[in-house]
Amino acid sequence: MKIYLAGCGGMLGEALHRVLAPGHEVLCTDIDLNVDWLQLCDFRDFAAYERSVSAFGPDILMHIGAHTDLEYCETNPDDAYRTNTLSVEHACTLARAHGVPLVYISTAGIFDGGKLLYDDWDAPNPLGVYARSKHLGELAVQRVPDHFIFRAGWMMGGGPAKDKKFINKLMKQLLAGSRTLRIVDDRLGTPTYTVDFARNLAAMVETRYYGLYNMVCGGETGRLEVAEALIEVLGLKEVVAIERVSSDHFASEYFAPRPPSERLTNYRLRLRDMDMMRDWRMALADYIADYFPDYPERLAKIYAGA
Ligand SMILES: NC(=O)c1ccc[n+]([C@@H]2O[C@H](COP(=O)([O-])OP(=O)(O)OC[C@H]3O[C@@H](n4cnc5c(N)ncnc54)[C@H](OP(=O)(O)O)[C@@H]3O)[C@@H](O)[C@H]2O)c1
Repeated sequence: MKIYLAGCGGMLGEALHRVLAPGHEVLCTDIDLNVDWLQLCDFRDFAAYERSVSAFGPDILMHIGAHTDLEYCETNPDDAYRTNTLSVEHACTLARAHGVPLVYISTAGIFDGGKLLYDDWDAPNPLGVYARSKHLGELAVQRVPDHFIFRAGWMMGGGPAKDKKFINKLMKQLLAGSRTLRIVDDRLGTPTYTVDFARNLAAMVETRYYGLYNMVCGGETGRLEVAEALIEVLGLKEVVAIERVSSDHFASEYFAPRPPSERLTNYRLRLRDMDMMRDWRMALADYIADYFPDYPERLAKIYAGA
């Protein structure tokens, strides 16, 4: 299959390239050319996006990238809507023009957190600019006849280079020798290992089971439990303490609205017998082993004698 991946330079893009490139002809584009398998395309520029997609002639178009920093989106709504909504409309136009299926990645963050667990058919109620921009993207993609929308939860991926994301940020703090991690105890969600997500996506796009799917790791959890599991996986339970705080503690840093619960369940994937997502604890252990292979040894040295 010829697969065009737009905005493929991020956490998920890296895993999609890893999973799809060996068996398919892929063209991966982004605005940030941080690796040699990426070509330049700013999908906000319709003419440039059209030229790039037309020159490749894909069998399927995957629109992956977005502005994912909620605080940036809240303070730069014009760029957020241009990037996360209007660019998705560009992808819809291109998929229709080429008569190919369209894949779009959405987020668990489109819910308001009033429920503890959301299935694929629950009604979104986005709270902030990022969530609204992504939900508007979903609505546009739903008007394309052959579409897949996959909703991810808290993405685990990218490794040390993506040091602003939850797990990766904690890894950085641990590498700096931090003896206490401050973790919020009032945020529920579902981790999503990018490699598992990419594999499940790859299996789904071989089918014609078009539509919208929650696609997160198995299990129900929250930030606190994920941080505790990380410490345990790294063998640092005895030497690193976790201080529970409420999300008010980080209110000035993370000021964009976030739902108290963004837990998803992969109900439609299960009904179709296509839920390949593993339990989040197993995925977390694999993520650390795959992306931070030397960390356990480095951390053991740092905390030796502590
Ligand atoms: N991260 C999460 O926890 C999470 C959860 C649920 C859903 N998602 C969704 O999953 C998808 C992938 O997210 P991710 O975590 O991989 O995000 P990421 O690491 O921030 O990667 C997004 C990529 O899109 C690129 N991009 C931004 N604007 C672009 C433009 N105008 N043209 C081309 N590329 C552009 C970014 O480049 P720059 O780095 O230069 O901006 C970046 O390389 C997104 O659609 C996101 O909304 C993410």
